[in-house]
Amino acid sequence: MTAVGIDAMEIWTGKLKLDLAETFAPAQGDDPGKYTKGLGLHASSFPDVHEDIVTMAANAAHRLMDRKGLEPEDIGRIDVATESSFDNSKPVSTYVAGCLEKVYDGDFHHANKGERKFACISGTQSLDDAYNWIRADRHRGRAAIVIATDTALYARDDPGEATQGAGAVAMLVAEDPDLLELSPEQGFGSADETDFLKPNQQFPSVDGKRSVNVYLARMREALDDFASVSGDIHPEDYPLIPFHTPFPGMVRKAAALGYRHIIRDTEIEDELAEEIGYQPVPEAFDSDDEFYEAIREYTDSLTETERYQAWYGETIDPTLEISRHVGNWYTGSVHIARAAGLKHARENGRDLDGTELLVASYGSGAQAEVHAEKVVEGWEDEIAQLNIDEQIRTRYEMSFEEYEQIHDVHNHDTEADAEAFTDPSEEFVFDGWGRMGERT
Ligand code: CAA
Repeated sequence: MTAVGIDAMEIWTGKLKLDLAETFAPAQGDDPGKYTKGLGLHASSFPDVHEDIVTMAANAAHRLMDRKGLEPEDIGRIDVATESSFDNSKPVSTYVAGCLEKVYDGDFHHANKGERKFACISGTQSLDDAYNWIRADRHRGRAAIVIATDTALYARDDPGEATQGAGAVAMLVAEDPDLLELSPEQGFGSADETDFLKPNQQFPSVDGKRSVNVYLARMREALDDFASVSGDIHPEDYPLIPFHTPFPGMVRKAAALGYRHIIRDTEIEDELAEEIGYQPVPEAFDSDDEFYEAIREYTDSLTETERYQAWYGETIDPTLEISRHVGNWYTGSVHIARAAGLKHARENGRDLDGTELLVASYGSGAQAEVHAEKVVEGWEDEIAQLNIDEQIRTRYEMSFEEYEQIHDVHNHDTEADAEAFTDPSEEFVFDGWGRMGERT
């Protein structure tokens, strides 16, 4: 069976930075530790006034095509995943294709374009769609571009405000990929939930505390479902486990819970039992909330053990390195977690050839998906092409007043008037409705 998977990827961050400890915390009257230690976030990325989900997606996709030497006729499918859509009919991928057609001789008239929606998990669902399309042999030898793009804003003073972020991840899905081969096995945990909603409104209505427990509950179900098709899983089987990362503190909880879930009834659990004075916690509770309350003491002790800390330091912590500095990118978050982990592995000379990553995606509403991806020999060359560190470093750092202006601009407040802070050159820019994607 020919391998199908991610051949290459590009990341595009919004060009503005809000420092949470230096700028946001003092303005909110909060201790910076709440953000840097509690949530695990140092800064958020925001789009400048000339950026939006289309320009970030198009800029990432253009760089991807350019670097891989692709022309429009090589692409048979463009899928955009987003929860920041502005059009209930026309998919964002058509706007993106329109931008790209301004810079290529050819066009995407024979490519299938779509938009996927299921909160943050839709980026992974779009990858699955592209994989299935190639596997079904409907692709005529062409590749798919999958883009996860979001401006993740919350209402001012919402508890989610500190977790905001903006950026796009473009991935090329093709046969014989140079980076990661997707495995056919998937596990799902899915239930109708109302913890995070955006019914035709700019900012989400969120029950933040509940959303954390829903994430954990669906992830446990997805792990069980994955194990039912892949056979028993062991946390140490995977060199990296990228999770959907709304903020690193969420992944800290998901990793501890997931670890405990996977090791239950195994020798590792017995070995750790003595060290932490293990008291079995029954799985059955009247509600998820009661279960997480009951198990917290256990998982807190678990995270203090040497074995857990070594595992977390190697398998989870490296996947958080980008997220800490850019915030939540909704659909793109798990994909920047994967990229961060691989980047860290390359920089530290880890040999990942032929190993499998366990990728844990999640979307509110709610659904989790767990699947494995095999690292392809030569992956380091692809990862070396990412310039996300430079992008993060060169963002314009906003004062709190500038942040307030930008928040209004992206809330489509027509009274809000902000000059651009950065100078786009050779980029697609948003220049008012109807003039989408002009290129400087
Ligand atoms: N020093 C160190 N730690 C501190 C601290 C300090 N000075 N002050 C607070 N903390 C810790 C708290 O103890 C807490 O830790 P635990 O979670 O381990 O208990 C952590 O910092 C956060 O503090 P609070 O719980 O008081 O924070 P909050 O209630 O103001 O906000 C939140 C937390 C509700 C999750 C909020 O960020 C939110 O609503 N976020 C948006 C929703 C979200 O991201 N949910 C995640 C799951 S849903 C999902 O993943 C989909 C998605 O992308 C949205």
